[in-house]
Amino acid sequence: MAQSDKTATLTYNGTTYELPLLEGTEGEVAIDIGKLRDQTGLITMDPGFKNTGSTTSSITFLDGEQGILRYRGYNIEELAEKSSFLEVSWLLIYGELPTAEQLKKFQTDITKHTLIHEDMRKIFDGFPTTAHPMGVLGSLTAALSAFYPRAMETNRPPEEIYLSVVRLIAKIPTIAAWSYKNEMGHPVNYPDNSLSYCERFLKMMFALPTEDYHVDPVVADALDKLLILHADHEQNCSTSTVRMVGSSLANIYSAIASAINALGGPLHGGANQEVIEMLEDIHKNGVSISTFVEKVKSREMRLMGFGHRVYKNFDPRARILKKSCDEVLNKLGINDPLLDLAKQLEEVALKDDFFVSRKLYPNVDFYSGIIYRALGLPVDMFTVMFAMGRMPGWIAQWLEMLQMKQPIGRPRQIYTGATERPYVEMNKR
Ligand code: CMC
Repeated sequence: MAQSDKTATLTYNGTTYELPLLEGTEGEVAIDIGKLRDQTGLITMDPGFKNTGSTTSSITFLDGEQGILRYRGYNIEELAEKSSFLEVSWLLIYGELPTAEQLKKFQTDITKHTLIHEDMRKIFDGFPTTAHPMGVLGSLTAALSAFYPRAMETNRPPEEIYLSVVRLIAKIPTIAAWSYKNEMGHPVNYPDNSLSYCERFLKMMFALPTEDYHVDPVVADALDKLLILHADHEQNCSTSTVRMVGSSLANIYSAIASAINALGGPLHGGANQEVIEMLEDIHKNGVSISTFVEKVKSREMRLMGFGHRVYKNFDPRARILKKSCDEVLNKLGINDPLLDLAKQLEEVALKDDFFVSRKLYPNVDFYSGIIYRALGLPVDMFTVMFAMGRMPGWIAQWLEMLQMKQPIGRPRQIYTGATERPYVEMNKR
């Protein structure tokens, strides 16, 4: 980040103030209002932070107008094609692609930490089988701080931080798969450390004591790619939550549990579940695409999986996923009517002025659910998959927040309630 020699001027109450500008490496410019209140008595107002940068960051670059997404400078298209989820995790967390030796050690360390403490099983037993797996995932991730209390210390040594990073990436698939087993009322499977990261997760999800289970490499590869696509997305709602909670120096497990809960909302990661439910509804009730689109336009509903706060062009992840949908379904020999429906819906929407004028394009959630379905994942596990993928991004953002000593997050407000008035005794009201 560079301090620009240009400034912005603000005139208020007859006085002109020079506000410094900051410029990022990709040419984005921000007005630095760090001294605004001290100098002018003013604050800024920006509900939903549509125009507000909360931090500088060197992790992920995205250009919503051009549809570009890069992790640490590498294009998402190239990473999705050539890399692996654990390699991308290292890249996000440590800033560079790992050497073969670094990656091997990282994989080995992760493999060593896949088990979860047996006492956590007792917590699992307390959840009703009707529990949404996201509720279980959030609670159990928060519980990790109770099992690893050293993470609570604020002057944690780097080895302890590394252990937390490894534990999170290693244990989340175990917790995720067990949350599904809890829902199914099936016995849990322990991690099989002879398998790769995604294979291990799939086996914990789908193996039953009553029959043989072999992981389909097509399914494991498709899942690995999906995780890469979800791995980071700069300052979105859940990531901002990690940085906000972390800024109080709360431990990493608590910060990430908060992010999991933020991700679960239907306007954020919960949208992938909503997309499939929407497509199933259209399909089941035989609603025509045009009738459905009219309902969206009359604001009876939203077209889930469309629109994005930052992308005002194609979400590059949606492009990759649309292609991937065709490939995966072909390889698995699946013909899913929901894929045809999604494509038709996309085609109609992209020609309709309602969507065109608002720059509403398919986002990552529009096609991801169709792949998850093809992989055999139940709908309420979709957001859990998103959380598993986003884990390295959340970790990287938490570490960066810590390293840059981000001040505690504490926005201001404009108060609009009653002004001072005397208390009225109960018998006089
Ligand atoms: N369907 C219909 N209309 C929409 C949609 C949609 N999916 N998204 C936005 N609009 C309209 C909205 O009604 C508004 O119209 P008007 O200006 O006439 O009132 C305009 O577009 C701007 O919408 P907004 O809600 O102000 O935009 P936002 O930036 O606050 O919201 C969003 C972004 C993602 C919450 C929104 O587009 C949305 O609700 N999409 C559906 C949910 C979804 O797919 N979420 C996943 C996001 S990507 C994964 C992730 O990172 O979480």
